[in-house]
Amino acid sequence: MQEIRAKRIKKFREFEAAHQDKSIWLYCGGKNSGKSHRVGQIMVQDLFEKDDMRSLVTRATGPALHDTAYQTIVDILQSWNLNPPMTRSPGNMRITNGRNQILFRPMDERSKFKSLNVNDVWIEEATELSWEEFTFLLLQARRPNKNRKNRIYLTCNTDHPYSWVRERIAEDSRDDVAVLYTTVYDNPFATERDIQVLENLKEQNIQLWRAYLKGEWAAPEGLIFSKYELTKDFPDTWDARIWGIDRGFNNPTAVTKICLVDGEPWIRGILYRTGMTTPQLIAWVKQHIPTNEQIWADLTPDQLQEFQQAGYYAIYPAPKAPGSRRRNALFCQRFTFHLCPDDYDYLKEIRSFAWKTDKDGKILEDPIDIFNHYMDATMYPLYGFFNQPRAGIL
Ligand SMILES: Nc1ncnc2c1ncn2[C@@H]1O[C@H](COP(=O)(O)OP(=O)(O)O)[C@@H](O)[C@H]1O
Ligand SMILES: [Mg+2]
Repeated sequence: MQEIRAKRIKKFREFEAAHQDKSIWLYCGGKNSGKSHRVGQIMVQDLFEKDDMRSLVTRATGPALHDTAYQTIVDILQSWNLNPPMTRSPGNMRITNGRNQILFRPMDERSKFKSLNVNDVWIEEATELSWEEFTFLLLQARRPNKNRKNRIYLTCNTDHPYSWVRERIAEDSRDDVAVLYTTVYDNPFATERDIQVLENLKEQNIQLWRAYLKGEWAAPEGLIFSKYELTKDFPDTWDARIWGIDRGFNNPTAVTKICLVDGEPWIRGILYRTGMTTPQLIAWVKQHIPTNEQIWADLTPDQLQEFQQAGYYAIYPAPKAPGSRRRNALFCQRFTFHLCPDDYDYLKEIRSFAWKTDKDGKILEDPIDIFNHYMDATMYPLYGFFNQPRAGIL
């Protein structure tokens, strides 16, 4: 056993000290307030400080679990110079320290873990799960625990006001539940930029500002693309395949692949990465997009030329002009998007991509200028393909 001194945010420290007797701890509130990081710390502390402790970390889908909660825990281990053995094979991700373990299992593989018998459970982005899935997880936390009562940790943003997390946990005054609301202002590790992005929401969409900056229960109003269907299938044949690139550096560079079948788009987000240089992007594109396919990209003329020199002769400038985001959005609203439930960066954007509102919540005629990287990378090729003349093609 080894004691770890975690740098804990004050609000978390006080909350945890006050609620040791509670078996469900809900950490909710705004974005970037340190919720996931804190519960990740607890998982790691228990791995090293407790005895015979088995924790389960879960989220709705596998890729999302891997890129968030799992990655958070790996980062924390690294920052504390800890190197416990890890098993990373698909379907069996775990970190072990003597008799203690952290298991990672996504809920969409639930049929494979009929019964797990664990002590604690961390449900990341709990609002993605149903009440029935939550009660199933409660039943998993039955393993005898010599350290203390087993505990369920829930983390989520307050952007699903009609979720069971709010109605049956946060506001149901159950005596086994402790609830903590935090915001980015509680997190001394948040950057100026993190704060700025959230503060800017006030000018863009008041409901998003309430949920993500203020940590109040509020659903985005005026969502632009609400017609979409989730399916893991992706067509093997298509009438056309088109690609979209929205270039960013501090913001992510987003790349989409779109297959059109009978006029309906099947969309995958395939790249969402910050800090990429143009040569890095070209190298990545060369590995993923055939040179003869049609791409609409938000690039400077010089960058477009670099892509053309790399062999991409059907790359077109993004359809952009003053007011074009509104025009592109209105055009694309006619489609039903077919999306993959694993594409969580994409889904995160589409579920927040809304019309701007004024301070009274009245919906304005312009899309917000945030959460729009995959959205732009979708609208450019869709609008471009159906509306722009392309020399030498079709
Ligand atoms: N105790 C901490 N030590 C170092 N960095 C932290 C700590 N708590 C939070 N952070 C950093 O703050 C940022 C936001 O934290 P995160 O847990 O992702 O927020 P949330 O889950 O509330 O959206 C992340 O970059 C995270 O690494
Ligand atoms: Mg989080």
